[in-house]
Amino acid sequence: MTVSERGEPWPAASVASDVVKTTDETPTDDDVRERYRLPGNVQPIRYDLELSPDLEAATFEGRVTIEAEVLESTDALTLHALDLEIDAAWVTTGGRNLDATVEFDPPTEQVTLTLPQPAEAGTAEITITFRGVLNDLLLGFYRSTFTQDGESRTIAVTQFESTHARRAFPCFDEPEYKAVYGITLVVRDDLFAVSNAAEVHRTPTDDGRVSIAFADTMKMSTYLVAWVIGPLEATEPRLIEGRNGPIPLRIVAPPGNLHLTEFALDAADHCVRYFEDYYDIAYPGDKIDLVAVPDFAFGAMENLGCITFREILLLIDPEQATKSELQRAVEVIDHELAHMWFGDLVTMKWWNGIWLNEAFATFMEVMAADAFRPDWDVWTTFGLERSVAFDTDALHATRPIEFEVVTAADSEGMFDVLTYEKGASVLRMLEQFLGAEVFRDGIRTYLARHAYANTETTDLWDALEEVSGQPVRRIMDAWILRGGHPMVTVTSTESGIALAQSRFSYDPAEAGDGWPVPIVLRAAHGDVVDEHRLLLESPTNVDLSGPATWVQPNLGGNGFYRSDLSRDLRTALATAPSATALERFVLVDDTWASFLGSQVERDDVVAVVRTMATTESDPSVWRRLSGVTTSLHALVPEADRASVAELACEIGVAPLARIDADIASGPTERSLDLRGVLFSLLGVVGDQAEVRARGRGVFDGAPADAALQAAALATVAAWADAEDHAEIERRWRAAPTPQEEMRYLYALASTPDEAMFRHTLELTRDDIRTQNAPYVIRLALGHLDLGAVAWEFVADRWDELVARFPSNSHVRMLEGIRSVTDRARATRIEAFLGDHPLEHGTKQITQHLERMWVSVRAAERLAQGPNVSPKV
Ligand code: BES
Ligand code: ZN
Repeated sequence: MTVSERGEPWPAASVASDVVKTTDETPTDDDVRERYRLPGNVQPIRYDLELSPDLEAATFEGRVTIEAEVLESTDALTLHALDLEIDAAWVTTGGRNLDATVEFDPPTEQVTLTLPQPAEAGTAEITITFRGVLNDLLLGFYRSTFTQDGESRTIAVTQFESTHARRAFPCFDEPEYKAVYGITLVVRDDLFAVSNAAEVHRTPTDDGRVSIAFADTMKMSTYLVAWVIGPLEATEPRLIEGRNGPIPLRIVAPPGNLHLTEFALDAADHCVRYFEDYYDIAYPGDKIDLVAVPDFAFGAMENLGCITFREILLLIDPEQATKSELQRAVEVIDHELAHMWFGDLVTMKWWNGIWLNEAFATFMEVMAADAFRPDWDVWTTFGLERSVAFDTDALHATRPIEFEVVTAADSEGMFDVLTYEKGASVLRMLEQFLGAEVFRDGIRTYLARHAYANTETTDLWDALEEVSGQPVRRIMDAWILRGGHPMVTVTSTESGIALAQSRFSYDPAEAGDGWPVPIVLRAAHGDVVDEHRLLLESPTNVDLSGPATWVQPNLGGNGFYRSDLSRDLRTALATAPSATALERFVLVDDTWASFLGSQVERDDVVAVVRTMATTESDPSVWRRLSGVTTSLHALVPEADRASVAELACEIGVAPLARIDADIASGPTERSLDLRGVLFSLLGVVGDQAEVRARGRGVFDGAPADAALQAAALATVAAWADAEDHAEIERRWRAAPTPQEEMRYLYALASTPDEAMFRHTLELTRDDIRTQNAPYVIRLALGHLDLGAVAWEFVADRWDELVARFPSNSHVRMLEGIRSVTDRARATRIEAFLGDHPLEHGTKQITQHLERMWVSVRAAERLAQGPNVSPKV
């Protein structure tokens, strides 16, 4: 494969593709594994790396000297390099310089240096001078641009995880090869430059530039190395009170944004102190820069001390942002900071362990955000994220959380809801089962034991077993090495309840092994209420000394399992006293899952929604109630939509009036948040005349808080004509904050006006940044009436879109197909994707397709059934 065939728009470097040996024999897994992994006979100790980028020409030159340990004498040293041109390479060993010949192997992204004589065992120095191109693909060493005073400005920035450091400098690019990095950047002296460690000195060069040297990093993996260079500004350092003294914290951003940094600084400041305390280990770096990058493939990246983010997560006007936007920013900041210890200080040996890295950071982000703002009740909002993981894990095409990873492409496919959200959920379930302090002590033991080193997942289980005395490894093996999750069935008996488990699936499930399910439940017989804690492995009776009056089979709502209750137990639970918000959330979520799995009927769903809506006041539970109503609206035949709109009005009008009155007598963040949810439900699904008129008023400038503004925008956008659409587009282009910019941008995908909708799709080809365009298309694909137009657009422009968008976003763009309900379209989509395989994320495409068929079948089932039943 040549470079251009991969769709990369920059010229091929001197990649010697003729050295690739092709063979007709199918390699075995072991062959593949061996071929893709470095041989291990040479291990890096430290890198001295100097880079000189030319931002205008979009090129860079570099020189790296790697001090390495040669384990046994060899004349061949293999490391990684991709799309680099190597000018010279030599190895200093035993006091001699040996010039190397250089051979690239593009399929494995490796380069082998062959010496005229063997290097002896012991320390050697490998020096390589090289050149490369700053690419546009948001990975490796790449270019990001922004406009200032009408002029385009360029930033050069890195994104190395999982395996892209090799695009910036030749290196041993596997997480196990930890080393120290001494980085020097040679740049124009009007540019700002940051890297992992603090700047130690700057020296002018002969050609009028400046050479900036950074302190040595700690011993760490290549994927965490980073630098950013450009016309940027930084806040004055804020000194965090760290255990080993003050830690300078800054935000680095394109000019003109520093007035938007206070909120993120506060969050980061709190978070670092929280983690030093939780982990009982000082922050492992010498400073923290949070860098806002205009073009960024992911949300954020945990480079030690030089954490990169999308602008929307750091540049915030708290007065103009919704609670969800604020919370998201805090969670992502906390997530990346959690990695400074869990990931950066202690790192997985190989990419199959990435789940633990990401799952744990996702779990910790919620812990830290909860400590930062207890009033946000983030463990309840986490229910919404867990629900997304359940949704994929209920498919046959799910996968175990921990999964074998051989090639670079495999590792990129691992960053999905199963790694993040299911992973974090099972950790939360474990933490709640073991007890929060015991769990924390296990984490402390694990981190202290493996600092500056690499681990396997089982190392964590060992530490947790030691401190808890529980069979952690056995429990967790089942949860992480087996895909899917159980449904716990609860039935009444004469003496109490009987519990059993089976695999939950939207389709009839295959039988298989069960899970050791850590269950915490509460059950009542008459007035006697008791809590029970058990590891459910085979059918079990719980004695209540009489039949159950009600049962909460997932107390606290932290278990990663579905519950199946008989109809009367479900009704009893919907009105049970003192259920927590998360427990109520779980009830709605489980009911909807059972509907998709054909275990309950639409009427059962509607009954739960109606009952709960009358008393519910939690914003997250309302989000799920609203989500279920919105899904129902999308699945019913067009002729039935009015009846679901009526349902939306029936459940939403009175609560909206109540919350309006509350807000009039003193708004809280929570009440404003809830009003936003109710308002959108009524304005978009309910098509409610008063709400639509009020939304119009706010859109036209009536004063409103951020949540109401966002809900009003959603309402106007859902019914936008050409004129509204043009206005939304104008506001998108002129938005004063990143949050508003994204709200307007995404609103462009919901107009019912076909010409305008097509116009939005056209914008994704050029005007919309490649970091955002795939997500606009994702929304467009799920458009209730115009999804087919979006699909045609994607199919017609497939090659162009795949080449333009960052590779990690292709599968995310296609997520929009999951809500397709039309059988003929679904058939076309499936055939098309079969003919157009993607390089990354094959598994996720299979999941999207299976989930799409769940939607098709649910819609067909609803088309046969009665309308939403009249109110009882
Ligand atoms: N390490 C990841 C970023 C990443 C993901 C790099 C996949 C390479 C491949 C980072 O810690 C992360 O998880 N970022 C998330 C945000 C997070 C809060 C969910 C992201 O980018 O989506
Ligand atoms: Zn992460």
